[in-house]
Amino acid sequence: MNGLDGKRILVTGATGGIGRAIVDRLLAEGCRVLAVDMVRLEDERVSFSGVCDVTDEASVDRAFSEAEAAVGGIDGLVATAGIQVSKPTHELSLEEFRRVLEVSAVGTFLATRRVLPGMLEAGAGGIVTFGSTAAVGAAPELASYAAAKGAVLQYTRSIAAEYGSRGIRANCMCPGGTMTPMMREIDAHRVGRDHFLERHPIGRYAEPAEIAAAVAYLLSDDASFVLGAAMMVDGGYSMA
Ligand SMILES: NC(=O)c1ccc[n+]([C@@H]2O[C@H](COP(=O)([O-])OP(=O)(O)OC[C@H]3O[C@@H](n4cnc5c(N)ncnc54)[C@H](O)[C@@H]3O)[C@@H](O)[C@H]2O)c1
Repeated sequence: MNGLDGKRILVTGATGGIGRAIVDRLLAEGCRVLAVDMVRLEDERVSFSGVCDVTDEASVDRAFSEAEAAVGGIDGLVATAGIQVSKPTHELSLEEFRRVLEVSAVGTFLATRRVLPGMLEAGAGGIVTFGSTAAVGAAPELASYAAAKGAVLQYTRSIAAEYGSRGIRANCMCPGGTMTPMMREIDAHRVGRDHFLERHPIGRYAEPAEIAAAVAYLLSDDASFVLGAAMMVDGGYSMA
């Protein structure tokens, strides 16, 4: 894809199922990848690998500063770090609700806020946040997750509008069901038939590489007019 070669891209949640696929794809596109996660990514191909809790301001500042120092700047951010709690909402604790919102919504805020000044200075930058089909539609027994992803989408649209004329393109990737540790965890707690899988008209879940391909597109110059999009890569789930 155009314009990715040599770009310095920081990926949060880089050790996760989708995060690792994004790391692989961006490396294949010639990017220099800066990986952060609660669990360090062991991959000697990346230019930086650090431990970071995206809900903790000091932790984000420290890890992002180390990453920046390693390569001299950050051209792009992919904020995939996220968690879910799958249970009936009347059984959800306040701590669980808060934590789900903190990792996705607060974590996306802290990560984007940390990279924006450098991008403003450069007059260029690419940001991809992570929503979900749950950002635009109901997600029974995943209410905290849907609340968090809705917040990420509206936050992303807002910064896209705020900074779009200054060379920074923010977009929100909204995957459908994707085969990762998170999906396996949701499936493990599912009671009865798997209606979620059935509601994907394409008839299957995504492979993480299929989400990573769309992330690479959003970061590339090929997507130069794509701004503030909720990019549904969901096998038709949200249109059905
Ligand atoms: N798998 C799906 O079906 C699916 C569908 C739609 C959206 N998503 C979203 O895609 C993103 C990636 O999901 P995944 O399926 O790869 O999940 P995953 O559980 O495989 O990976 C998530 C990663 O985030 C990291 N993480 C969790 N809390 C963190 C924190 N506080 N600070 C830093 N890192 C933290 C974890 O260590 C893990 O490596 C998430 O935002 C998820 O909500 C996933």
